[in-house]
Amino acid sequence: MQLTNKVAIVTGGAGGIGRGITRVFIREGARVLFVDSNAENGAALEAELGRDRARFLRLDLSVPGAAETIRDAAVAAFGGLDILVNNANRSTPAPLLLADEDNLAQAFGSSFTPTLTLMQACHELLAQSSGSIINFASGAGLSGDPLQGSYAAAKEAVRGVSRVAANEWGVDGIRVNVVCPFALSEGVQWWSETYPELAAAALAKVPLGRIGDIESDIAPAVVFLASEASCYITGQTLMVDGGGLMMR
Ligand SMILES: NC(=O)c1ccc[n+]([C@@H]2O[C@H](COP(=O)([O-])OP(=O)(O)OC[C@H]3O[C@@H](n4cnc5c(N)ncnc54)[C@H](O)[C@@H]3O)[C@@H](O)[C@H]2O)c1
Repeated sequence: MQLTNKVAIVTGGAGGIGRGITRVFIREGARVLFVDSNAENGAALEAELGRDRARFLRLDLSVPGAAETIRDAAVAAFGGLDILVNNANRSTPAPLLLADEDNLAQAFGSSFTPTLTLMQACHELLAQSSGSIINFASGAGLSGDPLQGSYAAAKEAVRGVSRVAANEWGVDGIRVNVVCPFALSEGVQWWSETYPELAAAALAKVPLGRIGDIESDIAPAVVFLASEASCYITGQTLMVDGGGLMMR
């Protein structure tokens, strides 16, 4: 097991990729405080995994003070913190000319702002444990995909602040990396059904010829970045997308 006795926070941890990360982290020996606004999914996952190792916190990440509440809940449940996974996201595709204040606020309020405030709130604990932060961004931001203006902006902001944190906090022993996944989550299922042509085009660009599986393709890469095996890696963006986008 690669995460024995490590304590992790996973945001958006009751659905999609976050649920897979929560499950696989527990299999790898971690204890996980997972946060989500979806009460039904959260309760079901906590029952499946057991409260001694998996603790669900129902919370909307966009409410003021969410970061401190989450950090304090992790400490109260498991006594410390080693790994922070900022995975949650909610955004609505829209042409750039219609990317208004609400559209931007949804994308930034569910991903960029909670990512930054949780990193800040957890800095002291992660410095004590020489911890690892894994933030989620997107190939849609790197490629500038149509209809993804607010989402692309929020996700590229996540990558920017991740590099700043990697530079500032390396001296504290904290590593910060970014994952850009491609996997069949509930969110991607909805997107594929709503925009079948865009989904087919995205899949056609994947050299490995298939969409990723959350637990067997995406979560192991997150475990790697959370574990000692990646102890000399920080400030990087790791594409876990079957080769759909090759960084140079
Ligand atoms: N699935 C992919 O192929 C893909 C591609 C590129 C990037 N990503 C990124 O990976 C991450 C996970 O994506 P996914 O496809 O699993 O998404 P998803 O929509 O399937 O799941 C997101 C989860 O986050 C929760 N959530 C959203 N907003 C929240 C909030 N404000 N407060 C609390 N919980 C909230 C939802 O309830 C849900 O459980 C996201 O950051 C996404 O941008 C995914």
